Amino acid sequence: MQTNSTPKPIIELEQQALSELANATQETDLENWRISYLGRKGKVTLVLRSVSTAPEKQRAALGKAANQLKAKLLKSLDERGKAIQNLDVGESKKEAFDIDVTLPGRPVGKGALHPTTQIIRDISKVFDSLGFKWVEGPEVESDSYNFQKLNIPMDHPARDMWNSLWIDNEPNSNPTLLRTHTSPMQIRIMETHTPPIRVIVPGKTYRYEATDATHEWQFAQIEGLAIDRNITFSDLKGTLEVFAKRIFGEKRRARFRCDFFPFVEPGAEMSIDCFKCEGNGCRVCGFSGWIEIMGAGMVHPKVLRGVGYDPEKYSGFAFGMGAERIAMLKHSIEDVRDFYANDLDFIKQLG
Ligand code: DAH
Repeated sequence: MQTNSTPKPIIELEQQALSELANATQETDLENWRISYLGRKGKVTLVLRSVSTAPEKQRAALGKAANQLKAKLLKSLDERGKAIQNLDVGESKKEAFDIDVTLPGRPVGKGALHPTTQIIRDISKVFDSLGFKWVEGPEVESDSYNFQKLNIPMDHPARDMWNSLWIDNEPNSNPTLLRTHTSPMQIRIMETHTPPIRVIVPGKTYRYEATDATHEWQFAQIEGLAIDRNITFSDLKGTLEVFAKRIFGEKRRARFRCDFFPFVEPGAEMSIDCFKCEGNGCRVCGFSGWIEIMGAGMVHPKVLRGVGYDPEKYSGFAFGMGAERIAMLKHSIEDVRDFYANDLDFIKQLG
Protein backbone atom coordinates (compact mmCIF):
# COMPACT_ATOMS: atom_id res chain seq x y z
CA MET A 1 0.00 0.00 0.00
CA GLN A 2 1.44 3.39 -0.96
CA THR A 3 1.42 6.22 1.47
CA ASN A 4 2.49 9.80 1.34
CA SER A 5 5.85 8.71 2.58
CA THR A 6 6.32 6.26 -0.31
CA PRO A 7 9.34 7.43 -2.31
CA LYS A 8 8.44 8.80 -5.73
CA PRO A 9 10.63 6.39 -7.72
CA ILE A 10 8.79 3.47 -6.12
CA ILE A 11 5.41 4.95 -7.04
CA GLU A 12 6.48 5.40 -10.65
CA LEU A 13 7.96 1.94 -10.80
CA GLU A 14 4.73 0.43 -9.52
CA GLN A 15 2.61 2.31 -12.07
CA GLN A 16 4.91 1.27 -14.89
CA ALA A 17 4.99 -2.36 -13.79
CA LEU A 18 1.23 -2.69 -13.34
CA SER A 19 0.38 -1.05 -16.66
CA GLU A 20 2.80 -3.38 -18.47
CA LEU A 21 1.37 -6.36 -16.65
CA ALA A 22 -2.15 -5.43 -17.74
CA ASN A 23 -1.03 -5.79 -21.35
CA ALA A 24 0.29 -9.29 -20.84
CA THR A 25 -1.89 -11.86 -22.61
CA GLN A 26 0.37 -14.93 -22.76
CA GLU A 27 2.55 -16.98 -20.46
CA THR A 28 5.69 -15.68 -22.20
CA ASP A 29 4.61 -12.06 -21.58
CA LEU A 30 4.31 -12.86 -17.88
CA GLU A 31 7.75 -14.47 -17.70
CA ASN A 32 9.38 -11.53 -19.51
CA TRP A 33 7.64 -9.14 -17.17
CA ARG A 34 8.76 -11.11 -14.14
CA ILE A 35 12.39 -11.09 -15.29
CA SER A 36 12.24 -7.39 -16.06
CA TYR A 37 10.94 -6.40 -12.57
CA LEU A 38 11.58 -9.25 -10.17
CA GLY A 39 14.40 -11.20 -11.80
CA ARG A 40 18.01 -11.18 -10.53
CA LYS A 41 18.69 -7.92 -12.31
CA GLY A 42 15.07 -6.78 -12.30
CA LYS A 43 14.12 -3.20 -11.55
CA VAL A 44 12.54 -3.97 -8.18
CA THR A 45 15.37 -6.30 -7.19
CA LEU A 46 17.89 -3.54 -7.92
CA VAL A 47 15.94 -1.11 -5.76
CA LEU A 48 15.94 -3.65 -2.92
CA ARG A 49 19.67 -4.12 -3.29
CA SER A 50 20.22 -0.39 -3.19
CA VAL A 51 18.53 -0.08 0.18
CA SER A 52 21.69 -0.92 2.14
CA THR A 53 23.61 1.85 0.39
CA ALA A 54 20.87 4.48 0.62
CA PRO A 55 21.30 7.49 2.93
CA GLU A 56 20.50 6.36 6.39
CA LYS A 57 17.52 8.67 6.76
CA GLN A 58 15.71 7.18 3.79
CA ARG A 59 16.76 3.57 4.28
CA ALA A 60 13.85 2.37 6.41
CA ALA A 61 11.17 3.96 4.26
CA LEU A 62 12.77 2.80 1.02
CA GLY A 63 13.24 -0.75 2.30
CA LYS A 64 9.66 -0.97 3.45
CA ALA A 65 8.24 0.49 0.25
CA ALA A 66 10.40 -1.72 -1.96
CA ASN A 67 9.42 -4.85 -0.08
CA GLN A 68 5.76 -3.90 -0.24
CA LEU A 69 6.11 -3.28 -3.97
CA LYS A 70 7.74 -6.67 -4.50
CA ALA A 71 4.95 -8.41 -2.58
CA LYS A 72 2.31 -6.49 -4.51
CA LEU A 73 3.87 -7.29 -7.87
CA LEU A 74 4.16 -10.97 -7.03
CA LYS A 75 0.50 -11.02 -6.09
CA SER A 76 -0.47 -9.14 -9.26
CA LEU A 77 1.62 -11.53 -11.33
CA ASP A 78 -0.21 -14.45 -9.81
CA GLU A 79 -3.60 -12.87 -10.45
CA ARG A 80 -2.77 -11.94 -14.02
CA GLY A 81 -1.57 -15.50 -14.63
CA LYS A 82 -4.92 -16.89 -13.51
CA ALA A 83 -6.80 -14.32 -15.58
CA ILE A 84 -4.89 -15.30 -18.71
CA GLN A 85 -5.60 -18.95 -18.11
CA ASN A 86 -9.29 -18.26 -17.69
CA LEU A 87 -9.25 -16.18 -20.85
CA ASP A 88 -7.79 -19.06 -22.86
CA VAL A 89 -9.74 -21.85 -21.32
CA GLY A 90 -12.91 -19.75 -21.19
CA GLU A 91 -12.93 -18.86 -24.89
CA SER A 92 -11.99 -22.26 -26.22
CA LYS A 93 -14.30 -24.12 -23.86
CA LYS A 94 -17.20 -21.88 -24.83
CA GLU A 95 -16.58 -22.57 -28.50
CA ALA A 96 -16.36 -26.27 -27.83
CA PHE A 97 -19.77 -26.19 -26.16
CA ASP A 98 -21.28 -24.09 -29.00
CA ILE A 99 -20.52 -26.81 -31.54
CA ASP A 100 -22.85 -29.77 -31.28
CA VAL A 101 -21.12 -32.34 -33.46
CA THR A 102 -24.13 -34.64 -33.23
CA LEU A 103 -26.43 -32.14 -35.01
CA PRO A 104 -27.32 -33.15 -38.56
CA GLY A 105 -26.01 -30.67 -41.17
CA ARG A 106 -28.26 -27.86 -42.27
CA PRO A 107 -29.42 -28.31 -45.88
CA VAL A 108 -27.97 -25.75 -48.27
CA GLY A 109 -30.64 -24.10 -50.44
CA LYS A 110 -30.01 -25.03 -54.05
CA GLY A 111 -30.96 -22.77 -56.92
CA ALA A 112 -32.81 -24.07 -59.96
CA LEU A 113 -33.51 -22.89 -63.46
CA HIS A 114 -36.71 -20.96 -64.10
CA PRO A 115 -39.37 -23.15 -65.76
CA THR A 116 -39.22 -21.04 -68.91
CA THR A 117 -35.44 -21.45 -69.14
CA GLN A 118 -35.82 -25.17 -68.52
CA ILE A 119 -38.35 -25.76 -71.27
CA ILE A 120 -36.34 -23.64 -73.71
CA ARG A 121 -33.30 -25.79 -72.96
CA ASP A 122 -35.26 -29.03 -73.29
CA ILE A 123 -36.70 -27.96 -76.64
CA SER A 124 -33.37 -26.64 -77.86
CA LYS A 125 -31.69 -29.96 -77.07
CA VAL A 126 -34.11 -31.73 -79.39
CA PHE A 127 -33.42 -29.33 -82.24
CA ASP A 128 -29.70 -29.33 -81.51
CA SER A 129 -29.70 -33.09 -82.12
CA LEU A 130 -31.38 -32.42 -85.48
CA GLY A 131 -28.66 -29.95 -86.51
CA PHE A 132 -30.33 -26.64 -85.58
CA LYS A 133 -28.06 -23.96 -84.08
CA TRP A 134 -29.22 -21.65 -81.26
CA VAL A 135 -29.27 -17.95 -82.26
CA GLU A 136 -30.55 -14.90 -80.37
CA GLY A 137 -31.75 -11.52 -81.59
CA PRO A 138 -32.85 -8.06 -80.47
CA GLU A 139 -35.99 -7.57 -78.40
CA VAL A 140 -36.33 -3.97 -79.61
CA GLU A 141 -37.17 -4.32 -83.29
CA SER A 142 -38.08 -2.10 -86.18
CA ASP A 143 -41.40 -2.26 -87.96
CA SER A 144 -39.49 -3.35 -91.02
CA TYR A 145 -38.15 -6.57 -89.46
CA ASN A 146 -41.09 -7.28 -87.18
CA PHE A 147 -43.63 -6.85 -90.00
CA GLN A 148 -42.73 -5.51 -93.44
CA LYS A 149 -39.99 -7.94 -94.42
CA LEU A 150 -42.25 -10.73 -93.15
CA ASN A 151 -44.77 -9.78 -95.82
CA ILE A 152 -46.92 -7.72 -93.46
CA PRO A 153 -47.05 -4.20 -95.00
CA MET A 154 -48.13 -1.08 -93.10
CA ASP A 155 -51.89 -1.02 -92.51
CA HIS A 156 -52.29 -4.67 -93.51
CA PRO A 157 -55.19 -6.25 -91.61
CA ALA A 158 -52.97 -9.20 -90.61
CA ARG A 159 -51.27 -6.83 -88.15
CA ASP A 160 -54.28 -7.35 -85.92
CA MET A 161 -52.76 -10.73 -85.06
CA TRP A 162 -50.06 -8.91 -83.10
CA ASN A 163 -51.01 -6.11 -80.70
CA SER A 164 -47.80 -4.15 -80.45
CA LEU A 165 -46.00 -2.18 -77.76
CA TRP A 166 -44.63 0.75 -79.75
CA ILE A 167 -41.58 2.64 -78.61
CA ASP A 168 -41.75 5.67 -80.96
CA ASN A 169 -44.43 8.25 -80.33
CA GLU A 170 -44.01 10.12 -83.61
CA PRO A 171 -45.43 8.44 -86.71
CA ASN A 172 -42.70 7.48 -89.18
CA SER A 173 -42.11 4.88 -91.89
CA ASN A 174 -40.09 2.49 -89.70
CA PRO A 175 -41.05 2.91 -86.05
CA THR A 176 -39.51 0.79 -83.28
CA LEU A 177 -41.40 -1.60 -81.05
CA LEU A 178 -40.85 -4.49 -78.67
CA ARG A 179 -40.87 -7.52 -80.96
CA THR A 180 -44.23 -9.24 -80.99
CA HIS A 181 -42.69 -12.54 -82.10
CA THR A 182 -39.28 -14.09 -82.78
CA SER A 183 -39.99 -14.30 -86.54
CA PRO A 184 -38.02 -11.11 -87.40
CA MET A 185 -34.86 -13.13 -86.69
CA GLN A 186 -35.70 -15.26 -89.74
CA ILE A 187 -34.99 -12.16 -91.84
CA ARG A 188 -31.88 -11.10 -89.94
CA ILE A 189 -30.37 -14.57 -90.32
CA MET A 190 -31.23 -14.95 -94.00
CA GLU A 191 -29.90 -11.47 -94.80
CA THR A 192 -26.51 -12.34 -93.33
CA HIS A 193 -26.11 -16.02 -94.28
CA THR A 194 -26.30 -18.18 -97.35
CA PRO A 195 -28.14 -21.51 -97.18
CA PRO A 196 -28.06 -24.15 -95.88
CA ILE A 197 -29.55 -22.64 -92.72
CA ARG A 198 -30.90 -24.48 -89.70
CA VAL A 199 -31.48 -22.32 -86.63
CA ILE A 200 -33.70 -21.97 -83.63
CA VAL A 201 -34.25 -18.59 -81.98
CA PRO A 202 -35.46 -18.66 -78.38
CA GLY A 203 -36.25 -15.29 -76.84
CA LYS A 204 -38.61 -12.89 -75.13
CA THR A 205 -41.57 -11.44 -77.01
CA TYR A 206 -44.08 -8.76 -76.09
CA ARG A 207 -47.75 -8.07 -76.82
CA TYR A 208 -50.01 -5.17 -75.90
CA GLU A 209 -52.53 -7.44 -74.32
CA ALA A 210 -54.72 -7.80 -71.25
CA THR A 211 -53.45 -10.72 -69.21
CA ASP A 212 -55.48 -13.78 -68.31
CA ALA A 213 -54.80 -17.46 -67.68
CA THR A 214 -53.57 -18.01 -71.24
CA HIS A 215 -52.21 -14.57 -72.14
CA GLU A 216 -49.20 -12.68 -70.84
CA TRP A 217 -47.92 -9.37 -72.18
CA GLN A 218 -44.41 -10.80 -72.06
CA PHE A 219 -43.59 -14.41 -72.85
CA ALA A 220 -40.99 -16.48 -74.65
CA GLN A 221 -41.12 -17.95 -78.12
CA ILE A 222 -38.93 -20.40 -79.96
CA GLU A 223 -38.64 -19.74 -83.66
CA GLY A 224 -37.25 -22.26 -86.09
CA LEU A 225 -35.96 -21.85 -89.64
CA ALA A 226 -34.53 -24.31 -92.15
CA ILE A 227 -33.51 -23.19 -95.65
CA ASP A 228 -31.82 -25.33 -98.26
CA ARG A 229 -32.32 -26.74 -101.74
CA ASN A 230 -35.27 -29.10 -102.03
CA ILE A 231 -36.80 -28.61 -98.60
CA THR A 232 -40.41 -29.75 -98.70
CA PHE A 233 -43.46 -29.79 -96.45
CA SER A 234 -42.55 -33.40 -95.56
CA ASP A 235 -39.32 -32.14 -93.98
CA LEU A 236 -41.37 -29.72 -91.90
CA LYS A 237 -43.73 -32.47 -90.78
CA GLY A 238 -40.97 -34.98 -90.06
CA THR A 239 -38.89 -32.51 -88.06
CA LEU A 240 -41.78 -31.24 -85.95
CA GLU A 241 -43.10 -34.75 -85.32
CA VAL A 242 -39.72 -35.76 -83.89
CA PHE A 243 -39.85 -32.66 -81.68
CA ALA A 244 -43.38 -33.49 -80.43
CA LYS A 245 -42.51 -37.09 -79.61
CA ARG A 246 -39.32 -36.18 -77.76
CA ILE A 247 -41.06 -33.54 -75.62
CA PHE A 248 -44.49 -35.12 -75.11
CA GLY A 249 -43.74 -38.86 -75.44
CA GLU A 250 -43.06 -41.32 -78.26
CA LYS A 251 -46.73 -42.25 -78.56
CA ARG A 252 -47.78 -38.75 -79.71
CA ARG A 253 -49.28 -38.23 -83.14
CA ALA A 254 -49.17 -34.91 -84.94
CA ARG A 255 -51.85 -33.16 -86.98
CA PHE A 256 -51.27 -30.32 -89.43
CA ARG A 257 -54.14 -28.12 -90.56
CA CYS A 258 -54.22 -25.07 -92.80
CA ASP A 259 -53.65 -21.78 -91.06
CA PHE A 260 -52.70 -18.30 -92.22
CA PHE A 261 -49.49 -16.43 -91.43
CA PRO A 262 -48.38 -13.83 -94.00
CA PHE A 263 -44.77 -15.03 -94.07
CA VAL A 264 -45.47 -18.67 -94.96
CA GLU A 265 -47.29 -20.41 -97.81
CA PRO A 266 -48.79 -22.80 -97.14
CA GLY A 267 -49.18 -22.03 -93.45
CA ALA A 268 -50.22 -24.55 -90.85
CA GLU A 269 -51.11 -25.03 -87.23
CA MET A 270 -49.64 -28.10 -85.63
CA SER A 271 -51.50 -30.08 -82.99
CA ILE A 272 -50.69 -33.23 -81.06
CA ASP A 273 -53.19 -35.79 -79.83
CA CYS A 274 -54.05 -35.12 -76.20
CA PHE A 275 -51.54 -36.80 -73.89
CA LYS A 276 -53.99 -36.56 -70.98
CA CYS A 277 -56.93 -38.41 -72.49
CA GLU A 278 -55.16 -40.10 -75.41
CA GLY A 279 -57.45 -38.26 -77.78
CA ASN A 280 -60.76 -39.18 -76.20
CA GLY A 281 -61.58 -35.64 -75.11
CA CYS A 282 -60.94 -33.97 -71.76
CA ARG A 283 -60.58 -30.53 -70.18
CA VAL A 284 -56.94 -30.16 -71.27
CA CYS A 285 -57.76 -30.54 -74.97
CA GLY A 286 -61.09 -28.76 -74.71
CA PHE A 287 -62.82 -32.10 -75.47
CA SER A 288 -61.46 -32.10 -79.01
CA GLY A 289 -58.76 -34.75 -78.51
CA TRP A 290 -56.16 -32.41 -80.03
CA ILE A 291 -53.92 -29.69 -78.59
CA GLU A 292 -52.53 -26.93 -80.78
CA ILE A 293 -48.84 -26.41 -80.07
CA MET A 294 -47.42 -24.12 -82.76
CA GLY A 295 -47.66 -22.26 -86.06
CA ALA A 296 -45.53 -23.30 -89.02
CA GLY A 297 -45.29 -23.25 -92.79
CA MET A 298 -43.13 -23.05 -95.90
CA VAL A 299 -41.27 -19.74 -96.08
CA HIS A 300 -43.17 -17.44 -98.45
CA PRO A 301 -41.44 -16.83 -101.84
CA LYS A 302 -41.91 -13.08 -101.29
CA VAL A 303 -39.95 -13.30 -98.04
CA LEU A 304 -37.19 -15.33 -99.74
CA ARG A 305 -36.97 -12.82 -102.59
CA GLY A 306 -36.89 -9.95 -100.07
CA VAL A 307 -33.67 -11.24 -98.52
CA GLY A 308 -32.11 -11.88 -101.92
CA TYR A 309 -32.71 -15.63 -102.17
CA ASP A 310 -33.99 -17.15 -105.42
CA PRO A 311 -37.20 -19.05 -104.53
CA GLU A 312 -36.59 -21.29 -107.56
CA LYS A 313 -33.33 -22.42 -105.99
CA TYR A 314 -34.06 -22.38 -102.28
CA SER A 315 -37.01 -23.33 -100.15
CA GLY A 316 -37.50 -23.81 -96.46
CA PHE A 317 -39.80 -24.12 -93.52
CA ALA A 318 -40.33 -22.02 -90.42
CA PHE A 319 -42.14 -22.55 -87.17
CA GLY A 320 -42.84 -20.65 -83.97
CA MET A 321 -44.10 -21.79 -80.59
CA GLY A 322 -44.75 -20.28 -77.17
CA ALA A 323 -42.28 -21.65 -74.63
CA GLU A 324 -44.57 -21.22 -71.63
CA ARG A 325 -47.44 -22.86 -73.49
CA ILE A 326 -45.34 -25.98 -74.09
CA ALA A 327 -44.27 -25.99 -70.41
CA MET A 328 -47.89 -25.52 -69.31
CA LEU A 329 -49.01 -28.50 -71.34
CA LYS A 330 -46.10 -30.66 -70.24
CA HIS A 331 -46.47 -29.88 -66.52
CA SER A 332 -50.25 -29.27 -66.32
CA ILE A 333 -49.86 -25.61 -65.37
CA GLU A 334 -53.16 -23.82 -65.67
CA ASP A 335 -52.22 -20.15 -65.52
CA VAL A 336 -49.46 -18.57 -67.61
CA ARG A 337 -49.27 -15.68 -65.13
CA ASP A 338 -47.71 -18.09 -62.59
CA PHE A 339 -44.49 -18.00 -64.59
CA TYR A 340 -43.75 -14.37 -63.78
CA ALA A 341 -45.56 -13.83 -60.47
CA ASN A 342 -42.29 -14.54 -58.60
CA ASP A 343 -43.99 -17.13 -56.43
CA LEU A 344 -41.04 -19.26 -55.30
CA ASP A 345 -43.27 -22.16 -54.30
CA PHE A 346 -44.54 -22.43 -57.87
CA ILE A 347 -41.10 -22.05 -59.39
CA LYS A 348 -39.56 -24.60 -57.01
CA GLN A 349 -42.18 -27.20 -57.86
CA LEU A 350 -40.67 -27.50 -61.31
CA GLY A 351 -37.06 -26.86 -60.23
N1 DAH B 1 -44.76 -15.69 -85.37
C1 DAH B 1 -46.02 -16.38 -85.22
C2 DAH B 1 -46.77 -15.82 -84.04
O1 DAH B 1 -46.18 -15.20 -83.20
C3 DAH B 1 -45.81 -17.86 -85.06
C4 DAH B 1 -45.33 -18.48 -86.33
C5 DAH B 1 -46.23 -19.00 -87.22
C6 DAH B 1 -43.99 -18.53 -86.61
C7 DAH B 1 -45.82 -19.59 -88.42
C8 DAH B 1 -43.53 -19.11 -87.80
C9 DAH B 1 -44.47 -19.64 -88.68
O2 DAH B 1 -42.24 -19.16 -88.12
O3 DAH B 1 -44.01 -20.22 -89.84
O4 DAH B 1 -47.93 -16.00 -83.92
